Amino acid sequence: MKSIQIAPSILALENLNNLESELYTLEQAGANIIHIDVMDGIFVENKTPFLDPATIARVKSATTLSVDVHLMVQEPEKYVDGVISAGADMISLHCESNGNHNETIKKIQKAGRKAGIAINPTTNMEKALPFYENADFILVMTVVPGRGGQEYIEVVNEKIQKLRALFPEKDIEVDGGLKQATVHLPINAGANIIVSGTGIFNTQNYKETIQKMKQAIIIGADHAGYQLKEKVKQWLEEQKQSIIDVGTNSEESSDYPDFAKKVAKSVSKDATKKGILICGTGIGMSIAANKYENVRAAHVTSVYEAEMAKKHNDANILCLGARTTRVETAIQCIEKWLCSEFERGKHERRVEKIESH
Ligand code: RB5
Repeated sequence: MKSIQIAPSILALENLNNLESELYTLEQAGANIIHIDVMDGIFVENKTPFLDPATIARVKSATTLSVDVHLMVQEPEKYVDGVISAGADMISLHCESNGNHNETIKKIQKAGRKAGIAINPTTNMEKALPFYENADFILVMTVVPGRGGQEYIEVVNEKIQKLRALFPEKDIEVDGGLKQATVHLPINAGANIIVSGTGIFNTQNYKETIQKMKQAIIIGADHAGYQLKEKVKQWLEEQKQSIIDVGTNSEESSDYPDFAKKVAKSVSKDATKKGILICGTGIGMSIAANKYENVRAAHVTSVYEAEMAKKHNDANILCLGARTTRVETAIQCIEKWLCSEFERGKHERRVEKIESH
């Protein structure tokens, strides 16, 4: 399961006067990667200050985050040495640009950096077939590259889905038109690194924005819960929720503790995460998930129970029974649980006792 990483694109900064303090704020806000666009005025119309490796080196020295350089240039071979010396950790080149891309990818990797192959929204995914395998990550452009602030192109979702199916282990980065309201689209198609410029910099509170962008519901089910999981996912997508599906993906017999483990482990590590687990009765899932630290998995069969599970028990995993609960009720339970707030006060004390006893 790939975790969601947020990569603010500093192309969206009005100028570089406050670069160091902006980078510090982004780091404190929970950003994972700093994305830099290098434009040569040929591959795309504009030029960026990052064409100068000294500017990339300035970014690198001011942050502990990974520095990700996206070469929107016609001849990446001309720029790659400078970018490597400037300290970039990730470097991507476009399959539509000129040169021997597999050689450039090798050069980047030999320097101990990650190499990515980038593909434009209008380019057929077959064009980059000779490079995917060798690259460490794939950068799927979700707008026509060249300038910030454009609208996300939804048809690209299909390309992301196909690439995810072909390369389940690779990082898939997306860039273009990404903000809080659109981030679920590429995530649900299979992307895991989200580049966002104005989607972060045009908001007041970077931390709040980044945390919201990272928020995905982790969902798992065994064979008995599979059908309901698919219906729940459909509903969550309609609600613009990002989802991470840990399986199962068929009705072939499977063991519920395996899926409970995947969901519970990831909720256990991060207090902001939420999970949904579905089996025949919901009981096995809750028993299995509650073995993990900081997990409060509530098995519910009614909307009232779902509401209380959040308000009084601060449940971070909701367990549902596909054989015991109707689809509509299950969805109503999830809706209520998601929109209810933990009431804190005496309930906080009680919840704390669950872990400390
Ligand atoms: C599987 O048949 C069933 O036992 C399981 O889905 C669940 O109900 C366990 O609690």
